[in-house]
Amino acid sequence: MNQETWASVDEYFGDLLIQEDATLRTAVEASAAAGLRPIQVSPAQGKFLNLLACAIGARNILELGTLGGYSTIWLARALPEGGRIITLELSPTHAEVASRNFVRAGVADKVELRLGGALDTLPQLAAEGRGPFDLIFIDADRPNMPAYFDWSLRLSRRGTVIIADNVVRRGGILDASSDDADIQGVRRFAEVASREKRVSATVLQTVGKKGYDGFALLLVTD
Ligand code: SAH
Ligand code: DHB
Ligand code: MG
Repeated sequence: MNQETWASVDEYFGDLLIQEDATLRTAVEASAAAGLRPIQVSPAQGKFLNLLACAIGARNILELGTLGGYSTIWLARALPEGGRIITLELSPTHAEVASRNFVRAGVADKVELRLGGALDTLPQLAAEGRGPFDLIFIDADRPNMPAYFDWSLRLSRRGTVIIADNVVRRGGILDASSDDADIQGVRRFAEVASREKRVSATVLQTVGKKGYDGFALLLVTD
């Protein structure tokens, strides 16, 4: 079993079940054309986020890390009439590409893009009384993951689902003495989450066209 098999299986189910449409493909192409790294969630993962948001009836979604807005579009499409997704992005270039993608995808009226470092924006959202969110997707920088988890809890209610991308990194998280700040960020996030009585959590390891990684899924229970 190898990367080629994982990618082929993604292709197989992609054609059958996932139905990534031309708008989503265009969003990826526009992101690549603007020089953004192709690190958006895969179609299978995007559809997973979409189904999760639908399943819990999410009306209010928060996303950390927009890039070109590919995952945002999948999530926005799960929203009912009047639903909203706030997405946080540090890079003005990424935000511009994403904004154009939102317009093309017809979801611009559902998306509120906040430019700036998430650690600056999150306290602003709290001060503005935004939230509690029904679903929070953490997919920005890894070193800040413990802080993102903390803020996510503050912006949650009982029943909020928090999902975090890239928590496995090809098994890199096993290296306790890693000098990689990303690895240490994910490890501290897992430790903090393990001590937090208000969440119940799991991790699903994933393989596919993006390689070997994983999603953490946390339910706020109190
Ligand atoms: N969720 C996107 C991928 C996000 S990639 C998708 O799946 O389509 C991670 C993004 O987080 C990048 O665009 C990066 O610029 C942004 N980012 C990095 N550090 C950040 C920070 N401190 N605050 C907000 N966004 C940040
Ligand atoms: C990277 C970031 C991501 O959010 C991702 O899903 C894959 C890779 C990265 O920074 O390398
Ligand atoms: Mg990611």
